[in-house]
Amino acid sequence: MRVLVSGGAGFIGSHTVVQLVAAGHDVLIVDHFGNSKPSVVNRLEALTGTHLPVHAFDLGDADKTEQLFSSEQIDAVIHFAGFKAVGESVEKPLEYYENNLGSTFSLVRAMRRHGVDKLVFSSSATVYGHNPSPLVEDMSTSATNPYGWTKVMIEQILRDVAVADPSLRIAILRYFNPVGAHASGTIGEDPQGIPNNLMPFIAQVAVGRREKLMVFGDDYPTADGTPLRDYIHVEDLAAGHLAALRKLTQTDEAVSTWNLGTGHGTSVLEVLHAFERAVGRELPYEVVGRRAGDIAQSFADPHRANAELGWAATRSMDDMCVDQWRWQSANPTGYPDA
Ligand code: UD1
Repeated sequence: MRVLVSGGAGFIGSHTVVQLVAAGHDVLIVDHFGNSKPSVVNRLEALTGTHLPVHAFDLGDADKTEQLFSSEQIDAVIHFAGFKAVGESVEKPLEYYENNLGSTFSLVRAMRRHGVDKLVFSSSATVYGHNPSPLVEDMSTSATNPYGWTKVMIEQILRDVAVADPSLRIAILRYFNPVGAHASGTIGEDPQGIPNNLMPFIAQVAVGRREKLMVFGDDYPTADGTPLRDYIHVEDLAAGHLAALRKLTQTDEAVSTWNLGTGHGTSVLEVLHAFERAVGRELPYEVVGRRAGDIAQSFADPHRANAELGWAATRSMDDMCVDQWRWQSANPTGYPDA
């Protein structure tokens, strides 16, 4: 298939591009490099041994999106592009709604105009709100911040669009906590500024860019008092996209929703200790107060994806840490500027 990957220079997008090419797909990237660097593409081309055409513009620009679909033959779209920082979304709600919804509108409009009928959308476990784990696809959705609401809203918009256009086949993938990196150590997560998420923060402590990990609370009702999350290796997550894309060519369901997680919760301190094993030394940390909005546990029920996609996460927490450390130690300051 000829697959358009929006946000193909981002963390999950870049790993998925590598697997798409390996599976024989022809890949086009659209990315405006708002939260990633163009040098990612050089790394992707080196890894895949392929030229990857990149369209560098903001999908919120409906005219450019239309031009892209007019000039290229496209069979399917994987839509990763979007703003994703929870705290920033609280500060800039309009920007979040405008960017995340606007890019989806112009993309889906262009798809319909040009008869492109397969879409895989990046959603998040954040849409489960305060539901108890294990989280199942049929549960109600809600959010606690504008970023989360953009995911809840886009899911609903896609379900409505699919009713109006029965030829569409849409996969909504709800990601749990993606971490790790490609085994080559040449691509990985490169957060701009101070990392919000746990594993990239620990990796930056390990490489000496941050003094110590702040553990946000150890008084949760869990075995060691720190919250449990369902960390999933980005390579397993990328494989889930290929499985979903394959399924879209075979299904009669207009919209399918799948959790992509391992089904296991790991605590903050367990992640830290696994990372210490990967690095081979202890890492400094301090327990501080809880972070607003955090919940005690979030982990997937992955059975639907296991059964319907024939997909399951296979990599362990130790694998995730070893791969994340290989990437971080080889690229202490992330991707080069040029
Ligand atoms: C967070 C977002 C979620 C978003 C996801 C995207 C919040 C409340 N949730 O999920 O909406 O979809 O990122 O990746 O922001 N932790 C520390 N110290 C740190 C960083 C994190 O102790 O410096 C702890 C957190 O309290 C949490 C765990 O590590 O218990 C995981 O945090 P994080 O990586 O931010 O993921 P989520 O909170 O699950």
